[in-house]
Amino acid sequence: MQRIAVIPGDGVGKEVVPVGLEVLGALGLALEFDQFPWGCEHYGRTGRMMPEDGLKTLARYDAIYLGAIGWPSVPDHVSLWGLLLPIRKTFDQYVNLRPVRLLPGVRGPLAGRDPGEVDMLFVRENTEGEYSGAGGRVHAGAAAEVAVEVPIFTRRAIERCARYALEQARQRRRSLVSVTKSNASRYAYVLWDEVVAEVAAGFPEVRVERVHVDAMAARMVLRPETIDVVVASNLFGDILTDLGAAIQGSLGLAASANLSVDGLGPSMFEPVHGSAPDIAGRGWANPVGAVWSAALMLQHLGHLGSAKRVEAAIDEVCRQGVLTLDLGGRASTTEVQQALLAALAAPGSRPSSE
Ligand code: NAI
Ligand code: MG
Repeated sequence: MQRIAVIPGDGVGKEVVPVGLEVLGALGLALEFDQFPWGCEHYGRTGRMMPEDGLKTLARYDAIYLGAIGWPSVPDHVSLWGLLLPIRKTFDQYVNLRPVRLLPGVRGPLAGRDPGEVDMLFVRENTEGEYSGAGGRVHAGAAAEVAVEVPIFTRRAIERCARYALEQARQRRRSLVSVTKSNASRYAYVLWDEVVAEVAAGFPEVRVERVHVDAMAARMVLRPETIDVVVASNLFGDILTDLGAAIQGSLGLAASANLSVDGLGPSMFEPVHGSAPDIAGRGWANPVGAVWSAALMLQHLGHLGSAKRVEAAIDEVCRQGVLTLDLGGRASTTEVQQALLAALAAPGSRPSSE
């Protein structure tokens, strides 16, 4: 029995996570779920995003399945630093994995691109860079107020992230793009480039390219078919994967895994999108990103056949045109759930022998 901690969180997180749980429940696996009502409402009641011993509680689980965190009632830096970032840091979830793939039946904004032409895997460094939290403010409120935010780059973090990305590339199309800005940034991204090159030397079968982040943004739009695995810093990975989600057709499709690769704690699986206050509560939210994230969780937990089944069900439902409003369709969240469950129950979706 594997145990999953479930944190639906805020806004549409509470609408899409139940769909993921229904899909997971339909697979006949020995999974057990415990739900935790943490997030901005919890903050409103208690002044904390999660209980003081929240991280200790989560440490006992095999994985964490999360919806979205954030609501207009709480400043975003408070909600982010009160729940998501402590989880990522404490459990050393040093890789943020984000697949970007065109789905059948979904019209993305790139003209003339078919599924199969766009299949990228982003490996985002998840512990440091511009998200380190090092810095401070002085002369608060005065005209001379100063804010210092110091990006931190360590050889260790770059090394292990690059290694993970190269291992992924070796199992895919054997090509890696390392995203950098080592022309303007003379220290951090120069170290990044050096360390990536050192690690890459151990993977002679993988072709490694170094591309500046601005050029990479353009290439994702103009020549996405040339991109296989991408390794990027925390900030660059964050920005480029939102572009990736847009290329897919909607942020509501994008999935992610925060991997504790060395097993220091549970890994966490969540859609890329936030709590979407503008559409929350209406039953329109696209649950595909959350369901796809559940598939990434299955993969991580060793249920490879089931993960493939879930991805195939997503493809099938999109092919059938059961799409939510963000994709130009008319289906509700519940209708997508029903279509997913039907696809999983169809004869073609064989239970795996794992
Ligand atoms: P957002 O991702 O919540 O929404 C951006 C746009 O995408 C909105 O127009 C929204 O309606 C749409 N959208 C998002 N998810 C969708 C879905 N499943 N189906 C259909 N449309 C969807 O980003 P925003 O508005 O910048 O942030 C809202 C809140 O979420 C903030 O408090 C923010 O801090 C938080 N947030 C949390 C994240 C997380 O938990 N990992 C990630 C990003 C934002
Ligand atoms: Mg983001």
